[in-house]
Amino acid sequence: MKKFYITTAIDYANGQPHLGHAYEKVLTDVVARYRRLAGDEVHFLTGIDEHGQKVTQTAEKLGKSPRELTEELAPRFVELCRKLNISNDDFIRTTEDRHQKVVQAILQDLYDRGEIYKGSYRGFYSVRQEQFILEKEQLEDGSWPELYGEVIEIEEENYFFRLGKYQEWLVDYLKNNRFVVPAFRQRQVLAFLEEPVNDLCISRPKARLSWGIPMPFDEEYVTYVWFDALINYISGVGYGKDGFSTYWPADYHVIGKDILVPSHSVYWPAMLKAIGVEPPKALLVHGWWHVGGQKMSKSTGLKIDPIEFSETYGADPLRYFLTREMSVGQDSDFTLELFAGRYSADLANNLGNLVSRLLNLAGRHCPDGLPGATVEEDPERSLKADWEEARREILSAYEEFQFHLAMEKTVGFITKLNRYAEIRAPWKLAKSGDARDRELLGTSLTQLAEGLRLATHVLLPVMPEIAGRVLGLLGEATPATWEGHLAWGERLKGRTLAEKTILFPRLHLDEEK
Ligand code: ME8
Ligand code: MG
Repeated sequence: MKKFYITTAIDYANGQPHLGHAYEKVLTDVVARYRRLAGDEVHFLTGIDEHGQKVTQTAEKLGKSPRELTEELAPRFVELCRKLNISNDDFIRTTEDRHQKVVQAILQDLYDRGEIYKGSYRGFYSVRQEQFILEKEQLEDGSWPELYGEVIEIEEENYFFRLGKYQEWLVDYLKNNRFVVPAFRQRQVLAFLEEPVNDLCISRPKARLSWGIPMPFDEEYVTYVWFDALINYISGVGYGKDGFSTYWPADYHVIGKDILVPSHSVYWPAMLKAIGVEPPKALLVHGWWHVGGQKMSKSTGLKIDPIEFSETYGADPLRYFLTREMSVGQDSDFTLELFAGRYSADLANNLGNLVSRLLNLAGRHCPDGLPGATVEEDPERSLKADWEEARREILSAYEEFQFHLAMEKTVGFITKLNRYAEIRAPWKLAKSGDARDRELLGTSLTQLAEGLRLATHVLLPVMPEIAGRVLGLLGEATPATWEGHLAWGERLKGRTLAEKTILFPRLHLDEEK
């Protein structure tokens, strides 16, 4: 059976993992967990990008070799995945043998078939962006756009991939396929392709840059970092071996908006076409996080360490915030105040309150198990109808990558459960000796538990640990799939609930910062 294969970008191993890296992994993980719960077999790949100029330059600044630097940083990226409850099945490093061999085999094959040729190049080169730039981009005063950093003039022999010849095919492909999600980003790719595309310089002379995969047919050169890095998506699932077709084509490459054009939307499909491999089914492109309204960057010091943050505030609350706050495709702002606001309103005061109310009352009044729902009146009927509506909306939001909406609707349903508790007021019913009130007490606690069970199931992709704990409190195991678990029923009848516990401790923001 073909697996649902999903990837993240591989992060440059030239600095500590940051919030953008964390977000991309969480987003991809939400998709992966959602698909597993929906019944798919999933393969989720992430990893790091270790070669190239960026890594070399950082290493130099730190007085280390590039290898020393990436050896030091690799465990941090692995730790990020563990700390954030990321369910990746594999973690690839571009310095691994399994990857380098595939890159070299592809280069050799393309070279043998004339898809790669040697040419002379004279032009301007941006060290920061690691790319050749066009003379027409030079500003009137002779300087270059700031984005490029230091620009040098270079004349050298290099190897080129015949990218230009795939332009027509690619335009055609994009016009006939839904390739980029959200759709407005696909239009950006088509706009880029309105201009002629040049062949792609895919080598760097060793004299200038030695930290890369050697060109198999010329040892004076190493491979351009993008040509190397993109291949991880196929080297990581055994390209060239049996079983590759269980994974490929990838269902989604999840990437940020800055690496859509030209790398993932032009180079990558053309490279695949040149080796006779289908393009990935789609690219899921997210926007950028800003911190306090500003771009995150080393220079401004505006960085959030996601590992430390999750240690302080919990991985699942961070995952929830990132998912709830960003509409996939748009940019979003991260501040501690926004985080704290969501934490207390949605998690502590809504979900947390429901859980502690329920466990408290059930512990006191149903120590021998929930009696089941024996009364069905308007409040019960409308609660069930609320769930039917919520379920439909939540599942379709998951399906359409509208995860912020999936969370909004889930929290909305939890609010309805709390409102039902206010209407039935089981704490008052418990004080009454009336037989009907006893029935209503049992009914309302049974219904609250059932509603909580359902809400928790749809939280699993986003808050796997906390949702798993809540299910445990209800005496439920975390299921492998949602099948048979999302319908309102009597599953918890007779169940004794666990003792009250605190899921969302009060935040102490002032002491932390
Ligand atoms: O580009 N908000 O690596 P990278 C959201 N190695 N996402 C962000 C972000 C932010 N503020 N900053 C970065 C590379 N990202 C290459 C990829 S893939 C074959 C090679 C995202 O470490 C960014 O958009 O600079 C990208 O998808 C990912 O983090 C890695 O960025
Ligand atoms: Mg980047």
